[in-house]
Amino acid sequence: MTLKATEHLAADAAGLARAAALLGSGGLVSFPTETVYGLGADARNDRAVAGIYAAKGRPSFNPLIVHVPDLDAAERFVIFNREARMLAQAFWPGALTIVLPVRDSAGISKLVTAGLDTLAIRVPDHPVAQGVLRAFGGPVAAPSANPSGRVSPTTAAHVLSGLSGRIDAVVDGGACAVGVESTIVDCAGSPRLLRAGGLPSEAIEACLGKALEAGPISDDHAPKAPGLLTSHYAPRGAIRLNATVPEQREVMLGFGPVAGDLSLSESGDLTEAAAHLFDCLHRLDAMGAERIAVAPIPDHGLGRAINDRLKRAAAPRPA
Ligand code: TXA
Ligand code: MG
Repeated sequence: MTLKATEHLAADAAGLARAAALLGSGGLVSFPTETVYGLGADARNDRAVAGIYAAKGRPSFNPLIVHVPDLDAAERFVIFNREARMLAQAFWPGALTIVLPVRDSAGISKLVTAGLDTLAIRVPDHPVAQGVLRAFGGPVAAPSANPSGRVSPTTAAHVLSGLSGRIDAVVDGGACAVGVESTIVDCAGSPRLLRAGGLPSEAIEACLGKALEAGPISDDHAPKAPGLLTSHYAPRGAIRLNATVPEQREVMLGFGPVAGDLSLSESGDLTEAAAHLFDCLHRLDAMGAERIAVAPIPDHGLGRAINDRLKRAAAPRPA
């Protein structure tokens, strides 16, 4: 693809107006959300959405999340049911993506849903994301703003290191507070957890008053729930999980009492670990780490999302 100069926009009124104008003319604009930086395009514009896939080098069977500023806007694009509305009212704006039947009248590009009859939608809880969405006034399709298969970005510098020259602009809103992607719940049927993420599933189950159906462990062979490729979120080095002591030539990523060259959280705080996760993986790349040992992470709350990302990062890579 041809290279273009990527504008580095401030998160002020002029920057937001420029971002909205670029989106309106079919451009690709990265902006911060509370989870990770997204790579946004007008979800109704086929050419713009195709540009996302091209910039990321993303497999085109992988559908995208649409971002809107509030529940009222979401109702225009998907058909809510009682449970989905309960979750939206409890957790939006926030790190929850809900999958629901898409309205045919919504005008969402078929490239966004990758041909599915459902749409993944969310209301981000970040003033810059809200500012971009309100200035633009339309639905914004936005996957994480990284080359496909690479670590998700939590700073504007991460975005530029992966996509500079391939996108029109990035709005710089500093580091993302949550640090892992949104939790995805399919509410088209009985609510099902498709991806552990920034909103702990325990909170969702407490709101619904029942357990979520178990989601796909890996959907490499399941087109109904695409996108969760087994090898994903990968730094360049090989990863060994649940390590307490580094072996020869390994760089150690610590947590809590397990010390490392870097630590996800020295105090063993899962919220801090989630916020640091992708930055640590980016730093391991920057250090040229070829072998990475990772400390055990407790598998509850945000630890589930962290372990999900780490397992994908450690999975055998496609050639
Ligand atoms: O936190 C986030 O969710 C970030 C920020 C930018 O909002 N976005 C994000 O998008 O992580 P992305 O494209 O990297 O992840 C989208 C996930 C994929 O795993 C995809 O398969 C799933 O959502 N997905 C999208 N539409 C779906 C649908 N209709 N049914 C099932 N899964 C869907
Ligand atoms: Mg992603």
